[in-house]
Order: sequence, then structure tokens, then C-alpha cells
Amino acid sequence: MHIEPFGLERWFAKYEHEANLMLAESGIRSLNASRFDLDPGKVGYVIPTNGDPKFRAQLCQRYDCEEDEVLFTCGTQEANFLTFLSVLGSEAGDHAVVVTPTYQALHAVPEAFGDIDRVWLDPPDWQLDPDAVRERVTNDTAVIVVNNPNNPTGRYHPKNVIEDLYDIAAGHGAYLLCDEVYRLLTENPHPPVASLGDRGISTTSLTKAYGLAGLRFGWLVGPREIIDRAWRWKDYMTISPSLFGQHVAKQARGRHEMAILRENRELAARNRGIVADFLSTHGLSWHDPVGVNGFVSVPDGFDTAKGFCRQVVEQESVVLAPGKLFGYENYFRIGFGLNTADLREGLARVGSVIGGHWNGSSWIRRRCDWGRSQSRRKPDRRTESHRGCDHRDCSRRPDRVPVRYPVHRPDDDGRRCRIPRLVSRESAHHRPASPARPWRRRFWRPRRGHA
Ligand SMILES: Cc1ncc(COP(=O)(O)O)c(C=O)c1O
Repeated sequence: MHIEPFGLERWFAKYEHEANLMLAESGIRSLNASRFDLDPGKVGYVIPTNGDPKFRAQLCQRYDCEEDEVLFTCGTQEANFLTFLSVLGSEAGDHAVVVTPTYQALHAVPEAFGDIDRVWLDPPDWQLDPDAVRERVTNDTAVIVVNNPNNPTGRYHPKNVIEDLYDIAAGHGAYLLCDEVYRLLTENPHPPVASLGDRGISTTSLTKAYGLAGLRFGWLVGPREIIDRAWRWKDYMTISPSLFGQHVAKQARGRHEMAILRENRELAARNRGIVADFLSTHGLSWHDPVGVNGFVSVPDGFDTAKGFCRQVVEQESVVLAPGKLFGYENYFRIGFGLNTADLREGLARVGSVIGGHWNGSSWIRRRCDWGRSQSRRKPDRRTESHRGCDHRDCSRRPDRVPVRYPVHRPDDDGRRCRIPRLVSRESAHHRPASPARPWRRRFWRPRRGHA
């Protein structure tokens, strides 16, 4: 069995840890644990392992189903995974039709277990035509997969389209799996797919709409035979959901819910407006998204979104997600669920790349961060020369601009630091003809290729 590497996770692994700002996160900013009671009592498994029956009973009211049609999981990721394990290879068949672009797990996992066909949507509206799905469905189709609202486009397919998909699935003895992890970021969410009938499966979690990714708490709602099979698989996977997750989830879905959702929806709406203004200023386009993700056209002058995103992160230390990871080279995904001040700062930096502005001091500061991250990654000569260098000048002297030649200063242990020191505007423009300052005489040596 072969599974593709998770492109987005690999991209994040490469850049996220070291970058200053994350504008590629698909969820809302995380809430502080301090707003919840964090003591669940004895830290054991959740018993029974499919989740607290009272909590499941409470939750299933919103899905118009029974308590044993709900299984608590470790996030939506596990809920989707268990669904594929339960559905593919069953009497329903082993073929999946997946509406694309979408979150990679929703096509890579069924592709590993079975056979898939993808229905590709087109920009700028990413409209879903149910007939395009109908054409791909075969007698062997076990599941139609859709993510609504969608990651990465932010498209919220209308209720009647989802109902049509449900009818197509039911008509072929297949299931409709809808990943609804962004659903509660909308003011007027459609009814969950699991409430449409016994061929509907809904998955979701507290990750995106609530800002509680670290709880790793989600659920799967569907017909009893699927839930039973999923639970059987879960016994071999994670046994039970997280006890802390369930403890906090009860509060987040209980007395805190209205406040959390209101706060998060307000943040999403405010930030969406800020990004929309930014895009129109720079002549970029997107489909006005629901949720906190947008899929944006690549700016003129860049061949691919990947080149653009790489330049943004290497030059400005801001992470975006190239659309190639979703199968669309000329788009990038922007996540705007972070706090508003960081979003503004991130957009300003992205704007400076688009505008081709060379904002000297900020450029070199981030370049230094970038250099440091690289030195950590590759233990080469740079690692040595960075030891002890705290880059004070870089962060504390915004009034200074970098010179175009390197000026090095010593580390604590006397080694030369290879990161250029910032030199005042005045001295940048009036570079002394000879090394009059003692530090310069001692530490600065011209390197090949430098003026
Ligand atoms: C559509 C979609 N489903 C599932 C997930 C994973 O969510 P969770 O943290 O609930 O496992 C993501 C995360 O980005 C997502 O975008």
C-alpha cells in the first residue's frame, strides 16, 4: 500500500517553525486553555471508548440521530480515516469520487485504500455541478467525498447542491462523506449531511471553528453500520478519544459555545475584509470565502505560486501555501484566522514582495532569521560562525538600513559572525575609504564576490 507524502505538512515542516508569521494556517487562532476547567479527574481512557454516552446523546440532537450513530475521535483526521477504512472495500465497493481541490487527506487516503476519481472544480467560482459527480460514479463507488465549506477555496456549496450529491450517492448505494470542519464558522450553516438520511456521513472537530486544535477531539456521525465498523477499527488505532479533549469539549460545546463562536466568527469576518482590501489593492482575486481560507491568484511577474511563496518566506519570513499542493499551480492559499495585528503585519510583508519594494531594514532582519534557521538545519560552517550572535542590531535598530557589503562583528568567543551587521544610513552612504575603526580592521575581511 502506498500513501503520498502530505505535501502541505511537508511544506510547513520546512518553513513554519522558523518563520515569523504564519499566513497559511487553515484554522482560527488557538484559544487559551485558561478559559476552561482543565481537571478531568483521573487521567484514564475515556470509558466507554466511543465517548461519554451523555455527551454523545447531547451532540446527536444536532444531527437528528441516535447516540450510537456518533463516534468520538481524535480530530476530523481520524474521523475521515475511519470512514474510509469502514466504507472502502465493504459491500458498497472500493471506489471513491472526490470533489477537488480539497484537503489532501480526503483524496490521498482513499487512493491508498482503493480507487478514486476526482472532480476538478474551476476558478474563479469553484462551482460544483452535481452532474460532473454523477458522471464519475460507477457501480463500484462506495463514497462521494466533499468538504464544505471547502479548504482551500473557501467555497460554501449551496444546500441544494449537497442534497443533489446525497441523492446521487443514495441512488447508487454509496455514502456521501462531508468533512464539515469549517461549518460552524458560517453564520447560517446548512444542516449536517448526516441529518439528510442513512447514506450521509458527517465528520468534524473542535479544531477550526472553535480554535481548539490541540484537544484533538472530533467526531464521526453516520449510519449505525458505519459507526460500528469505524469503532472496530478505532480499537486498533487510538482506542479512545483524548480524556482532556472530551473534558474541554464538553465545556466548549456547552456554556462557552456561544461566546467562542461569536468571537471566532467576528475575527473571521474582520480579517476577511482586511484581506479583501489587500487583494484589491494588489490586483489579486479570490472567491469571497466562507471560513478562514482563501485561494488567491498568483501575482503578475511570478511564474508559479510556489516561486512566489518561496520568495515570501525566504525574504519576508511569512508562510503561505502554494496552490500546487492542492493541484493548482497558479494559486496560493492564505489563511486569515490569526490575530488581526499579525495578519496586517504579514500582509504588509507579502505586499512588499508583490510591489518589489526593497524595505532594507526589515529585509535584512528577516534574512538574518532565515540565515539562522538555515544554519540550524544544516550544521555547516555557518553554525559555527553564528554561535553567540544575538542579532541585537537587527531587531532593535529599525532606523538603520543595511549596507550592501557585509560588516561582521565578533561572537563571544571571538569568531567572526557571518551575519552582516547593520550600519547606519549615514555610514552606509559614506563608506569610509579605509578601515578606520579598529573593529573593522580586526574583523572585516572582504570575501570573494563582495564589493
Ligand atoms: C478539511 C479538513 N479536514 C480535516 C482537517 C484536520 O482537522 P482536525 O484537526 O480536526 O483533525 C483539516 C485541517 O486542516 C482540514 O482542513
